[in-house]
Amino acid sequence: MFRPSVARLAVKAASQSTRPAVLTAASRPTLSNTFMRSLSSTPLRANDESNKIKKDPLLAATDKAPQGALSDEGRFARTDESLQIEYPDDEHMPRTQVVQGRGGMHFKRTLAQYSLENKVSLVTGGARGLGLVMSQAIVASGSDLAIVDLNKAEAEEQAQKLVEQFRKENPGLEEEQMPNVTAHYSDVANPDSVNEALADIIAKHGRIDNLVTSAGFTENFDAISYPYDRIQKLWGVNVDGTYLFATGVAKHLMERKVPGSIVMIGSMSGTIVNVPQPQAPYNAAKAAVRHLAASLAVEWAGQGIRVNCISPGYMLTALTRKILDENPELRDKWISLIPTGKMGTPDDLMGPVTFLLSDAAKYITGADLRVDGGYTLT
Ligand SMILES: NC(=O)c1ccc[n+]([C@@H]2O[C@H](COP(=O)([O-])OP(=O)(O)OC[C@H]3O[C@@H](n4cnc5c(N)ncnc54)[C@H](O)[C@@H]3O)[C@@H](O)[C@H]2O)c1
Repeated sequence: MFRPSVARLAVKAASQSTRPAVLTAASRPTLSNTFMRSLSSTPLRANDESNKIKKDPLLAATDKAPQGALSDEGRFARTDESLQIEYPDDEHMPRTQVVQGRGGMHFKRTLAQYSLENKVSLVTGGARGLGLVMSQAIVASGSDLAIVDLNKAEAEEQAQKLVEQFRKENPGLEEEQMPNVTAHYSDVANPDSVNEALADIIAKHGRIDNLVTSAGFTENFDAISYPYDRIQKLWGVNVDGTYLFATGVAKHLMERKVPGSIVMIGSMSGTIVNVPQPQAPYNAAKAAVRHLAASLAVEWAGQGIRVNCISPGYMLTALTRKILDENPELRDKWISLIPTGKMGTPDDLMGPVTFLLSDAAKYITGADLRVDGGYTLT
């Protein structure tokens, strides 16, 4: 899938590189224009620049780099339109393993505020990837859970596995102490489907207190050749899907006159521009998610509904692992850009999502919590 053409990039970068203006006869210093220096300066400024460049070895090297060397300038901060990654069909999607040994009974002292006991939480996109592992954190923290996904069969299977894992990690619990974990179909981009899922969850659990919107996807095409129907789908799932579930759950909370917590899964792509893979519509979608969280946080603050965003960096899910195994040069590039020197894993989100949903974060709303190994700092 990835065939970054280094040669093509080099040619492109060389042809795009800007050079200082060539001095014309009119701009060459003469007695009269030297005299005018303090009054009129446009052509002379180029002249001064050129002299400065000639004298400064560092600037001169930049200006008169050896043949071909200009292709490297800015190369690591550009997108490469030859990179194309399409989101795979459902049957080609790799499955996610339930995380082992991260939850369970423990006797280390911690704040009770972090507990999600007696809550009902909803995670969209919970059948796989980050959504599944965050679901597990939510269950381990004491909440009941509704997993919502386009792939209901896998959501059902994973719901059962989450309960089995919880049972293993919490031996001796009575049946009524076990979490109630259910699976529900929804296409998050479709308002009717969202409303049906919400009604189904409320019928099965009686209520919803917390929401995590993790259904989303990315793919890579350069902006000019990105198929428009795919852009609409991408924005539909990432932006409309987040909006529809957030407003649906907030309406339900307002009708009940109770507080609640919403965590939207954005991405560091909502703040920076990733390289080298081109993905302008995804970046714009995640910027929208981040600002939606801030905007709704303000709009619903009076009703006690907190809305925050988590912006993960590069996380090693089953899907990203498959893509990077097939494209080791992309993996090396990504890792070289992360200050901590490694990609995140889905369980790096277990603490952040639990924290933001819980009362430990009760004065935090509208925040964007970046979980990116420092990527966005440099
Ligand atoms: N993996 C990363 O490196 C990374 C980094 C930053 C942000 N994110 C974001 O995190 C979220 C989860 O990503 P992931 O890596 O776990 O992806 P994933 O593909 O592993 O899981 C996404 C889940 O969402 C479901 N889904 C997709 N479209 C849907 C729809 N229309 N309706 C309902 N469910 C739908 C899928 O069936 C799948 O179970 C996404 O919003 C993604 O943009 C991921």
